[in-house]
Amino acid sequence: MRPPPPPLLLLLLGGCGAAAPPADSLSQLPAPQNPKIRLYNAEQLLSWEPVPPGNGTGPVVYHVQFKYTTSQWSDVNNNPEGVNCVKITTTECNFTKTNISKGFPMHFNVSLRVQAELEGRVSAWVTVPWFQHFRNVTIGPPENIWVTPGEGSLIIKLSPPFDIYDSTVAFQYYVHYWEKEKAGIQKVAGPFMTNSIVLSDLKPLTVYCLQVKAQLLWTMLNISRPGHLSSISCYETMADASTKLQQVILIAIGTFLLLSAMAGACLFLVLKYRGLVKYWFQSPPSIPVQIEEYLKDPAQPILDALDKDSSPTEDAWDSVSVVVFPEKEEDVLQTL
Ligand SMILES: *[C@@H]1O[C@H](CO)[C@@H](O)[C@H](O)[C@H]1NC(C)=O
Ligand SMILES: *[C@@H]1O[C@H](CO)[C@@H](O)[C@H](O)[C@H]1NC(C)=O
Ligand SMILES: *[C@@H]1O[C@H](CO)[C@@H](O)[C@H](O)[C@H]1NC(C)=O
Ligand SMILES: *[C@@H]1O[C@H](CO)[C@@H](O)[C@H](O)[C@H]1NC(C)=O
Ligand SMILES: *[C@@H]1O[C@H](CO)[C@@H](O)[C@H](O)[C@H]1NC(C)=O
Ligand SMILES: *[C@@H]1O[C@H](CO)[C@@H](O)[C@H](O)[C@H]1NC(C)=O
Repeated sequence: MRPPPPPLLLLLLGGCGAAAPPADSLSQLPAPQNPKIRLYNAEQLLSWEPVPPGNGTGPVVYHVQFKYTTSQWSDVNNNPEGVNCVKITTTECNFTKTNISKGFPMHFNVSLRVQAELEGRVSAWVTVPWFQHFRNVTIGPPENIWVTPGEGSLIIKLSPPFDIYDSTVAFQYYVHYWEKEKAGIQKVAGPFMTNSIVLSDLKPLTVYCLQVKAQLLWTMLNISRPGHLSSISCYETMADASTKLQQVILIAIGTFLLLSAMAGACLFLVLKYRGLVKYWFQSPPSIPVQIEEYLKDPAQPILDALDKDSSPTEDAWDSVSVVVFPEKEEDVLQTL
């Protein structure tokens, strides 16, 4: 055992701000290293590096205390309610608000310290810098981002990264967006104070990519905490009213041009083959004369009628038919 240090040295050590534990516990037990407080959204997590265990002795345990600005150091033992970080073997203490833990109030100024214990021996305390959750928190991207394409616009709905129950704090949202084809030119819209955002004045029928971020604004202290951007997602805007009108006009013009072209082609063909066309129109398809006769007088055998086709002249036949016709008419009347 070393002799106790002379009083002057103790004074100097105290003056340097070093922990000055009682001389008896100037043990070899090292303190936990690199204590860190993680404040991400609503998460409040203190962690540190483990102290190496002793020879064949029991496990190293840790002891966490907290302090608000004006209060004394207190054990983290059901205070905040539900969290116990006295004589724990894990190397972290999770204060995050749950239904059994209240967590540290987010506007409180909190200091934390931790010490290792082994078989009644204790290490020095190590402290993390004081923090206020709203001042030191890292904000994650907004949650549940829903994008609906509109007419030359995009409608974005989202949820805050985490719930806050403090009227002096609010989330603001920013949208980073760009045309997919021109990834270099980014624009930022915002701040928006609501969970429903409309990006208007976009080009219709164009693919836009976007990222959203939340920023926490602590209005009471004029402090803002920037947030992380959400992952990139892309959407095509719909046609707006004027584009639709343009489309209708284009279709109308297209149809008109097509019909005009067809009409022109017809006219051209008609002019080019004028003779042929005249021929077609002057000899319309007609029933052969003999068949016509047969239809007038079904009593006459069709074969006879067709035979008469070979008669020298139609005129002769006509003259005969004129003579015979009245008789035939009587026959027809008789048969009726
Ligand atoms: C562990 O044991 C070794 C020898 O076995 C000894 O030198 C060392 O001091 C012991 N460490 C502790 C922390 O007791
Ligand atoms: C928070 O408390 C620490 C000491 O506990 C103090 O040094 C610091 O200035 C306080 N911060 C604020 C913003 O009051
Ligand atoms: C801390 O507790 C919260 C709430 O139960 C949980 O969401 C989070 O994952 C925990 N963190 C770790 C590192 O266990
Ligand atoms: C928290 O509350 C939910 C529903 O109210 C319950 O299902 C869950 O078991 C509770 N968790 C704890 C650790 O009590
Ligand atoms: C919290 O932020 C303050 C300054 O705003 C800084 O002095 C302090 O060290 C931060 N606390 C932690 C744990 O980072
Ligand atoms: C809040 O802070 C910003 C810069 O961070 C400053 O431009 C603004 O004037 C401040 N507002 C008030 C009311 O102090």
